[in-house]
Amino acid sequence: MSADQNNNLSSGPEVASDESIQQVHSDLASKQPEPEQGYKLMPLFLLGFISTMIFVTCVYVVHYRADFSPMVYDERFDPKAAAGGASKELTPEQVIAAGKKAYQQVCATCHQVNGQGVAGAYPPLASSEWVVGNEERLVRILLHGMNGPMEVAGKTYNGAMPAFGKVPGGGYNWNEEKISQVLTYIRQEWANKAEPITKAKVVEILSKEAARAKPWTAAELDPFK
Ligand code: HEC
Repeated sequence: MSADQNNNLSSGPEVASDESIQQVHSDLASKQPEPEQGYKLMPLFLLGFISTMIFVTCVYVVHYRADFSPMVYDERFDPKAAAGGASKELTPEQVIAAGKKAYQQVCATCHQVNGQGVAGAYPPLASSEWVVGNEERLVRILLHGMNGPMEVAGKTYNGAMPAFGKVPGGGYNWNEEKISQVLTYIRQEWANKAEPITKAKVVEILSKEAARAKPWTAAELDPFK
């Protein structure tokens, strides 16, 4: 009985030996992937893609940065062109219109809209030899003013014409451009016909008379007749 049981245990196909177990283990182990440590490597194409994006972004910023000016919202803004376009020339009609507006707002109070002045108080500008005559004299009157007796169109006046230039004691402080506009207007309005007076001319005379701080008299203006 005991011999039969021994036989049954030690024989038969279902019994695994030590070797067969080891064989199975090594077979299974060779099919496993190698154990790895740490992170996986980044796929090469992703590295290339990110590098390209950073490069393209840098190129874009350098090209469209517009010197990082807070005033620039137009990416095609050209600072040089903008600076050049700021001081654009007025047409002769625009100069006359600007001069007329200034005249009617200020000068007309005394010299009247029709340029006839007020008899005995304010001399006329229409048909005045002071207006259509020498521009050196006319510009000086506007810049520094004038007082004392003077003769206009055969009549004598003795009042005070205020100074309009940015000069010592000047009450109105008009800039050279505005003065040139109002003078061009009074030289070409009513029946007056004389050449326009440029801003450059006003600037020139202002610099010649930089030291002057009081109004002119008729006698002082005589040399500029
Ligand atoms: C407050 C009144 C007053 C205002 C404003 C005034 N003027 Fe006069 N203006 C006079 C008086 C007065 C005289 C004469 C001065 C004198 O008698 O010496 C005069 C003289 C003149 C003359 C020389 C004389 C003539 O009749 O041709 C001119 C040119 C002139 N003014 C232009 C102007 C212009 C241009 C303005 C405006 C930008 C102006 N005036 C604003 C009072 C004024």
